[in-house]
Amino acid sequence: MRRRDFLAAALAAPAAGADLARDRHRPQYHFLPPRNWMNDPNGPIWWKGRHHLFYQHNPNGAFWGDMHWGHASSKDLVHWTHLPMALAPTPGGADKDGVFTGCAIIHEGRPTIVYTGVNPEVQCLATSDHRMIAWKKHPANPVIAAPPAGLSVTGFRDPCVWRHEGQWLMLIGSGFKGTGGTALLYRSADLVRWEYLHPLFTAAVDQMWECPDFFPLGRKWVLIVSANRTTPYFVGEFRDLKFHVQSRGVIDGGAYYAPKSYRDNRGRRILWGWIQERRPREAQVAAGWSGVMSLARVLTLDARDRLQMEPAGEYRKLRQNRARGGDSIEVEAVLDPAAGAEVGLAVGAVRIAYRAGEGRLTAGGSSTALVLDPGEKLSLRVFVDGSVIEVFANRRASLTVRDYPAGSAERAVEPGAGVVSLDAWRLKAISKNRLSADTAASGAR
Ligand code: FRU
Repeated sequence: MRRRDFLAAALAAPAAGADLARDRHRPQYHFLPPRNWMNDPNGPIWWKGRHHLFYQHNPNGAFWGDMHWGHASSKDLVHWTHLPMALAPTPGGADKDGVFTGCAIIHEGRPTIVYTGVNPEVQCLATSDHRMIAWKKHPANPVIAAPPAGLSVTGFRDPCVWRHEGQWLMLIGSGFKGTGGTALLYRSADLVRWEYLHPLFTAAVDQMWECPDFFPLGRKWVLIVSANRTTPYFVGEFRDLKFHVQSRGVIDGGAYYAPKSYRDNRGRRILWGWIQERRPREAQVAAGWSGVMSLARVLTLDARDRLQMEPAGEYRKLRQNRARGGDSIEVEAVLDPAAGAEVGLAVGAVRIAYRAGEGRLTAGGSSTALVLDPGEKLSLRVFVDGSVIEVFANRRASLTVRDYPAGSAERAVEPGAGVVSLDAWRLKAISKNRLSADTAASGAR
């Protein structure tokens, strides 16, 4: 066995007692770690022909704790190779109590991770070889040892770094008690010495913003934050190092958190998010896994500068035969919102409904705003995968639902009021054993 295959096989061994391959609730075409806990996507980046995805990971079980950075890469955005753990806490180091969320960039040709170490929250660097396999912590860690002097903040974590007019800029998630969440703006020439500038933007949305993500899109800039289980975004202009917000919305109204984006080789802005569990901790631990990565969503702005979001086109190649039921399916439906006070469809026990009068889309107990233009039809794309249901509506609203059916009866797709057309396909699994990386073929990918 070649070393790479051995490594992949070792990583893929399921947790003792949990039969991941036969677990109906475990997704088949969403990315997951081989086992145990995952939360935020970290440092997604396109590098040397592959998409790299890191993630908050507890290697000790399917519960949050002892945060590491897991790592996988993909040539096609759909099929993955699990790679060795990128970052682990260094005993006695600035990240001894956890390697928290951050980003990946290329500095002077070298892959570099900027992340938060905890207790207290500080910012750290790590760099690697060109394969992004062997990561080394920077001797200057922590490069930022405390929040700006004189500023009383609710938190200080999850750096987002980008190149801007010949320097590095960075946002750190933070907040002001009683006022709202904020993202603190810094600048640097070398990633080691940082100068604090000012809060980029503050709003009365919760009191702590985690995982800020800030990037240019079309003619505008977009700031996405994670605030107490919600994912607000802001669209505006970035001028003179200030963010002038013009509109806002929510990325996903369901079990979705901590999204993070990057620009790929085709110039697309791709967003990953953490799909949270919605069952008790004991059930997660017993299953041997917790947390799913969302499908890759491509972000654009429409002619009215509204944020548009749709699953990457690559997933279309997973379509198999047409089927109106199952645990791995994609549904495409068009509904006429004028057909009744409520229009919708059902996927097993989960009802997806739209009420034009309220301008809201609901699914499995969550809801999100969606106002259709006069005469505009409701266009749904629904991705069912084990216990995950990702719902996309008219490219501008999404709801991620968790549904853990008991027993083995197949879910059926049932059109309800207002359905004008409905198509559904079975989707192909991305691995043979629900480990989300086809280890046997990993070398070829
Ligand atoms: C968001 C978050 C981040 C933190 C990480 C720790 O889910 O709380 O703020 O860095 O998770 O795992």
